[in-house]
Amino acid sequence: MLVASVVGARPQFVKLASVDSALRSAGIEHFIVHTGQHYERDISEIFFEQLGIPSPDVNLGVGSGTHGAQTGAILAAIDPILSSVRPDWVLVYGDTNSTLAAAISTVKMHIPLAHLEAGLRSFNRKMPEEHNRVLTDHAADLCLAPTRLAIDNLSSEGLAERSVLVGDVMADVCMAIQAEVRRSPPTIEGVAADTEFYFATLHRAENTDEPRRLAHILAQLASLELPVVLPVHPRLRERCGQFDISLTQGALVPVSPLGYPQTVSALMRAVGVFTDSGGLQKEAYLTGTPCTTIRPETEWPETLVGGWNVLMPECERLVESAGRPRPTSPRGLPFGGGDAAHRVVKALCEASAKIMH
Ligand code: UD1
Repeated sequence: MLVASVVGARPQFVKLASVDSALRSAGIEHFIVHTGQHYERDISEIFFEQLGIPSPDVNLGVGSGTHGAQTGAILAAIDPILSSVRPDWVLVYGDTNSTLAAAISTVKMHIPLAHLEAGLRSFNRKMPEEHNRVLTDHAADLCLAPTRLAIDNLSSEGLAERSVLVGDVMADVCMAIQAEVRRSPPTIEGVAADTEFYFATLHRAENTDEPRRLAHILAQLASLELPVVLPVHPRLRERCGQFDISLTQGALVPVSPLGYPQTVSALMRAVGVFTDSGGLQKEAYLTGTPCTTIRPETEWPETLVGGWNVLMPECERLVESAGRPRPTSPRGLPFGGGDAAHRVVKALCEASAKIMH
């Protein structure tokens, strides 16, 4: 069997690490396509190096653009690749423009399509990711769901028969890296070993593209009593430059984007997390660090149980959220026990057998 994975943005590289390792250990050939949606070294190559992922077989080099231009460029560039490689499965990850473009190309070529992280919903139709994930789920032949709630969402959209609960492949990687970080903690730029700090990330269009909202969120974080380590995503860097908003105010400690072990280590050490990233909400939950999500909704409601994560779209209340008592309730394993990638491989093999009969 030959599986082609299509990835393009930072969180997809993390998920790719566990899938690649599970495919190879099952003796399945794996062809990796990087769309080039993320192209700077510190949000792309470094993940392949740190997580031991082989270099992509192809990089489409599409770069940035409007949603339509970026999605269209990926679609046009991937057609000839899939047509010459003819994999048995194309595996797409998450909810980015790379995901949707690869899904469209795949189904139009009548190649079986599997969607990893299927069934997540924010029910917010203003989010570009919501369109990407809904459309991809409905195009896919196999929906690989990370959680029970994702399975419920797929069922209510009539997709139960092609859906399988596999667990979350990002949790696989996060759990493995936590163990490594405990053995040998990496240094984190901007933070001395014995300092207490908050950890924050901000990259979503809803929080970064409107100057007043962006300035307000950053001012609130800057007013916290401990340093706020803020790895700066390219979109945040660009918008702050464009709107003339300072990243060096008050408690803020802006640093370059961190690699994966550094991120996990920062989460394990941080007193609290502020973020609008889906992945980080989950990683904070897995590391047992209280999280405040600067959004009105989450695709990962499991993280809200017991107060480990709270939704705080009103930026005025971020400081209040920082002061909330640390949750004490047990966290459970809503994202699986660290073997999701092996379940993905099993689901692909079983679905292949069905297609052949
Ligand atoms: C994308 C995904 C989002 C995911 C995020 C992870 C979509 C619609 N969004 O958002 O779901 O959570 O990746 O980080 O696919 N840029 C650079 N260097 C780079 C890449 C981007 O400077 O290497 C700049 C470009 O100006 C670009 C902007 O960042 O316009 C945003 O990049 P883009 O890939 O469009 O979306 P993200 O905000 O990263």
